[in-house]
Amino acid sequence: MTNRARVTASLLLLAVVALGAGCGLVGWEWDTPMSTVQPKSDFGRMTHDIFMLISWTTLVIFIAVEAGLLYACFRFRDRPGAPIPKQIHGHTPLEISWTVAFAAILVIIGIPTIRVIFKTQEAPAATTLHVDVTGKQWWWDFQYPALKIHTANELHLPVGQTVAFYLHGPDVIHSFWVPQLGGKRDVVPARVNRIILTPEVPGEYLGQCAEYCGMSHANMRFRVFVHDKAGWEKWVAAQQAAPVEPKDDLAVKGKEVFSQSACVGCHTIDGVSAGVLGPNLTHFGSRTTMAAGIMKNTPENIARWIENPAHVKPGALMPTLGLRDEQIKAVTAYLQSLK
Ligand code: CUA
Repeated sequence: MTNRARVTASLLLLAVVALGAGCGLVGWEWDTPMSTVQPKSDFGRMTHDIFMLISWTTLVIFIAVEAGLLYACFRFRDRPGAPIPKQIHGHTPLEISWTVAFAAILVIIGIPTIRVIFKTQEAPAATTLHVDVTGKQWWWDFQYPALKIHTANELHLPVGQTVAFYLHGPDVIHSFWVPQLGGKRDVVPARVNRIILTPEVPGEYLGQCAEYCGMSHANMRFRVFVHDKAGWEKWVAAQQAAPVEPKDDLAVKGKEVFSQSACVGCHTIDGVSAGVLGPNLTHFGSRTTMAAGIMKNTPENIARWIENPAHVKPGALMPTLGLRDEQIKAVTAYLQSLK
């Protein structure tokens, strides 16, 4: 071995050790909110199976090619007085065999891939739960037409039930993506895309707009709650109920402020207002997060948001309303009361 070969081999070994140590130090975790490798739906499983098939196939090819390359480098390397190796240019059987081998690899990868593409594009069955998803700068509107439920930024689904999301884009291109449930699919203006999946494991999953759509693209998040049957029915019943009338004085005052300010121009609260530009707030108090999932639904955060939305979410289309502190406190109490 020459000195240069020794140095190269040592550096390679060092890189492998550093990579291994790095992975060990940061802690190797597969089942994380933005990970696709522990799928929780049929759609996720199908695409993950394709991913693994392609990964293993390419790993085998990589090892075979590298082994051949290393063998050729060492076996036929130039040495003083070494003869020129036997030339195989124009070796017909070899050329036919590697053409056939690579065609076979493409078939091995291609057939399951095409099958999954068709499977995931099938027309929804009559029993499928229909959800209209509208991606807007920078939040998500969710409607369940058959259940007459209208909500925002937090999706609720029953486990084991096939659901078809119809994706609407009134402004720019967004992309609907819940990594653990599979996806993603673009939300395109002037056409309705569809994504169908069956959640298989109850839990809370993070969603994220996956297509750059302007200043607050990174803040266009959402959550998916997959419930067992009882949890799902409880949620549906709560959403279908009329909003509760506020009881304590502060919330009553908040309803009054809300009804008399610009809020009503953009937001719907059933029985109070009918704006459509901003999220439906009918059951806002039942949500765990706000502002498209970027922060917890707490009185402090609601107040911060109302005071200056663009300060919390750059580019937010909701204007600063110029409410006084006590008015903001009252509206916050009212919104929190809308369970
Ligand atoms: Cu919407 Cu990025």
